[in-house]
Amino acid sequence: MSKKADPPKSTKQATSKTPDEKKKPKEAEDWIAEIIPKKKKPSVQKPSDDDLSDVAVNKIPGIGPAVSEKLMSAGYLTLAAVAHASPYELVEHCEIGEQTAKRLITAARSQIGVGFKSAKSLLESRQKLQMIPTGSKALDTLLKGGIETSSLTEISGEFRTGKTQICFQLCVMTAMEKKNGGLESGVIFIDTEGTFRPERIVQICSRFGADPDDILSRIHVGRAYNSDHQMVLVLESPILIKEKNVKLMIIDSLTSHFRAEFTGRGALLERQQKLNKYLHQLLRLGEVYDIATVATNQVLSKPDVLYGETIFPIGGNIVAHSCTTRIFLRKGKGDKRIARVIDSPHIPEIETIFSITEEGIVDIEDSS
Ligand SMILES: Nc1ncnc2c1ncn2[C@@H]1O[C@H](COP(=O)(O)OP(=O)(O)O)[C@@H](O)[C@H]1O
Ligand SMILES: [Mg+2]
Repeated sequence: MSKKADPPKSTKQATSKTPDEKKKPKEAEDWIAEIIPKKKKPSVQKPSDDDLSDVAVNKIPGIGPAVSEKLMSAGYLTLAAVAHASPYELVEHCEIGEQTAKRLITAARSQIGVGFKSAKSLLESRQKLQMIPTGSKALDTLLKGGIETSSLTEISGEFRTGKTQICFQLCVMTAMEKKNGGLESGVIFIDTEGTFRPERIVQICSRFGADPDDILSRIHVGRAYNSDHQMVLVLESPILIKEKNVKLMIIDSLTSHFRAEFTGRGALLERQQKLNKYLHQLLRLGEVYDIATVATNQVLSKPDVLYGETIFPIGGNIVAHSCTTRIFLRKGKGDKRIARVIDSPHIPEIETIFSITEEGIVDIEDSS
């Protein structure tokens, strides 16, 4: 779970009644009583074996087929997806009334439990997190195993530093068969700059002897032409995530459209608000469906800085606070690149070197 995600809203808030609701006929109250367990929930969550987060949304007690259809077609497929939603967004995306949205959220939350968890059970669930290797042992060591699922990783750097190449490599590692060290899972690649190259995927496959047809068929590419389109693609992704067992979602790049569309100081606030909303969508998607989300980011040069860094990832504090792990890339000699972890809840600020070759991201000793 991201260290900076919003705390879940209390169920008390969701169940509090408006004057309108109090006037409602008795049947509505009966329905609420049916879906909300009478016994008080224990404050410590059930062990992960009983975890109902991934249960299909049509299993919410009391839900009718019409409402469950609306939720599913809007991409709210599991109890966790509904439990982590706000009434406002369910109303907006699913065309249901506010009271229904509140009831569904309360019911989903009471099913999966959104109270406290013991640190021990958190450690156990973290040990079960899957890691996506990067193709370079040095980079994997830096990242303590690779790119983590259920979290948002930012890869920033100037142009040609290897951001897109790392994304291509991660696509192959995620899609590749388990016997070759992969996750044998699907990938969603949101391409905002038109730089996705299937040929590069084929080249990287040859290093592992992986079947390029298999790998390419597991990568689902969405070309986003503007920031609205970029947001819609994320909203539409849950069905694909479930159908294709997606474990990695890439956004290459996170900020280019936002930066091009909202120019000038006057538009900065609006841009940051929209970007914030988008980042929260990404964060929640990663947690709810247990996928790794990787977003590349361009950098901005601030020559007027008196001391310290003069190059900064775009998006300011909003991006900084939303990303769980931030990796900063810079160029070295020739095909060498330096990666530094600039923010992580579990990795120190250290750096390592890797190479970009025709066969993808490799350790420097393996590059010719
Ligand atoms: N087929 C290839 N073989 C070796 N290096 C490549 C190949 N394709 C791209 N590169 C290297 O990748 C670098 C571009 O990295 P890229 O990830 O696309 O940059 P960005 O950070 O702008 O996304 C270039 O410097 C190029 O040398
Ligand atoms: Mg790129």
